[in-house]
Amino acid sequence: MEFSKRLQQLPPQFFAALASKVAQAVAEGRDIINLGQGNPDQPTPPHIIEALQQAATDPQTHKYSPFRGVQELRQAAADFYKREYGVEIDPDTEIAILGGTKIGLVELPLAILNPGDYMLLPDPGYPDYLSGVALADVKFDTMPLVVENAFLPDYDALSDEVKERAKLMYINYPNNPTGGVADETFFEKTVAFAKEHHIAVAHDFAYGALGFDGVKPVSFLQVEGAKDVGIELYTLSKSYNMAGWRVGFAVGNAKMIEAINTIQDHLFCSLFPAVQHAAAEALNAEQHCVEALCATYESRRNVLIEEARRIGWDVEAPKGSFFAWLPVPEGFTSQQFTDLLLDKADVAVASGNGFGEYGEGYVRVGLLVSEERMKEAIVRVEKLGLFTTLMK
Ligand SMILES: Cc1ncc(COP(=O)(O)O)c(C=O)c1O
Repeated sequence: MEFSKRLQQLPPQFFAALASKVAQAVAEGRDIINLGQGNPDQPTPPHIIEALQQAATDPQTHKYSPFRGVQELRQAAADFYKREYGVEIDPDTEIAILGGTKIGLVELPLAILNPGDYMLLPDPGYPDYLSGVALADVKFDTMPLVVENAFLPDYDALSDEVKERAKLMYINYPNNPTGGVADETFFEKTVAFAKEHHIAVAHDFAYGALGFDGVKPVSFLQVEGAKDVGIELYTLSKSYNMAGWRVGFAVGNAKMIEAINTIQDHLFCSLFPAVQHAAAEALNAEQHCVEALCATYESRRNVLIEEARRIGWDVEAPKGSFFAWLPVPEGFTSQQFTDLLLDKADVAVASGNGFGEYGEGYVRVGLLVSEERMKEAIVRVEKLGLFTTLMK
């Protein structure tokens, strides 16, 4: 049997190889400290689980959901944006409920581009953006994210050809994998750039709840004109440790939202209504659990960065997300260093080149283990003797 070209052009899952290597090492009985993944390690807060339990006993939730999600969740998402960001959202026309934002990000090119159209993607960036590229049979150019520019794209550095042919662009702050954050000035520049070149914008706000050092991440929709050009995707996976529940939403430009909703009318029957009720509870309730979670990640970050610097590893502290983006020592590629850490130190990290060409020279470390394990990971790295202990 021969299957579709679209299927064949789907990119290989770069990190599947790492996951299977880690699984094999664990099966051999090795104590691997896995800092390679992006899976929240804490449980979902109890009030959200209780809301699910209660909703699941209501037979009304056993029926098909309305195609575009239950009204309670649409309203909760609108209220959340008003409360958290001062942004007005029409719950009927400016929200698409998503079975996780990955789905929205993958279906958006399919919904608004034609085969052969171009989109702009960050490099390094979240690998699943490329799944949307392949499924929609579109092409892409990249916007390098480099440390000298605080991991923000430099729109002025893009060629005229690239600017003119782009129809859709993805940006993502707090950023996976670099931990960079954006401010309002950057989003204002983005709106102006998008308007000048007629580019639709999707801001992936997956780590919107996770800003460090007292700085709350800014929503793209907070800046004037953002809704004219784009949408923002918000997930409950990270803010509430609900990655397995598969729930998120897109908000913003009504035309783009309608396009997503139309595609979804044909692909899904929305989500299990009980999950939607619980998601509404998560968004409506006091956000203490989110503040506590963010504080946990910040403490882990501090331990990681302090420990890394102690052994002489010259690293920058991430400003948001739950990742740290660490430079590899001289003489190694990202992959060689990743392999060395796993083989010789039983520490798994994600090799930076898996996120794009500009990821080379870095590894991504997830802040998803306890402070003790984080410390232990660096002690294991120290024993490899790769870093000069300048700061001891
Ligand atoms: C940058 C980024 N965007 C989107 C997602 C997808 O999140 P979800 O599909 O769970 O909403 C992730 C998950 O790791 C991510 O890192």
